[in-house]
Amino acid sequence: MQNSFYKDSIVLLEGVIAEIMARLDIIRKYKIVHNDRDPIEYITSRVKTEESMKEKLKRKKLPINLETALTKIYDAAGIRIICAYIDDVYTVVKMLKKFKDLKILKEKDYIKNPKSNGYRSYHIVFQVPLDIAGEVHPVNIEIQIRTIAMDFWASLEHEMKYKKNIKNQKMIVEELKRCANEIATTDINMQAIRNMINGKE
Ligand code: GTP
Ligand code: MG
Repeated sequence: MQNSFYKDSIVLLEGVIAEIMARLDIIRKYKIVHNDRDPIEYITSRVKTEESMKEKLKRKKLPINLETALTKIYDAAGIRIICAYIDDVYTVVKMLKKFKDLKILKEKDYIKNPKSNGYRSYHIVFQVPLDIAGEVHPVNIEIQIRTIAMDFWASLEHEMKYKKNIKNQKMIVEELKRCANEIATTDINMQAIRNMINGKE
């Protein structure tokens, strides 16, 4: 395993992702069988790389060790759930909150309260009791839920953040903000049209 920093904990991080993915997979299939709408378009996941974790610990002025990485930083394990419509995002949030064994450590609705740069997404950090052969390990996972359009925007904004010495940075930041607002309006309009098609309004 090339990720030596996480040592044996990589099993826990990959385990918590597999656990949540499996639970979501069952719900999605169950909904489809029962002619209910599957609110999820697709899901991606990742274990934060050793390099990125060390950089984050340094940035947050935290000691660079495994214990801190797994308890003070919440996104060593991360899942991103992409939905077509805004209502689906909230359906997924409700769905996740129904798992009674998951403890919410942090919750942020950047859709109702977008960040100043225009970032939109719903974030929840759960502590998951990972049962490994009868031994329960509490493992944190960060789940980001957003629409396809929000994801499209976040990918481009992320690209800019990690590039140094960009020309016209100020203009790009402004343009991104403008696009974030346009996307938000489009998401709302798409939802409204969908509701009309389905006779909801
Ligand atoms: P970190 O940003 O992870 O240090 O923690 P935080 O306490 O600020 O949490 P927050 O919920 O704001 O962000 C968690 C994660 O959401 C980040 O690691 C990113 O993956 C994503 N995120 C937050 N803000 C932005 C943003 O402005 N742009 C993009 N592209 N992603 C963001
Ligand atoms: Mg942040």
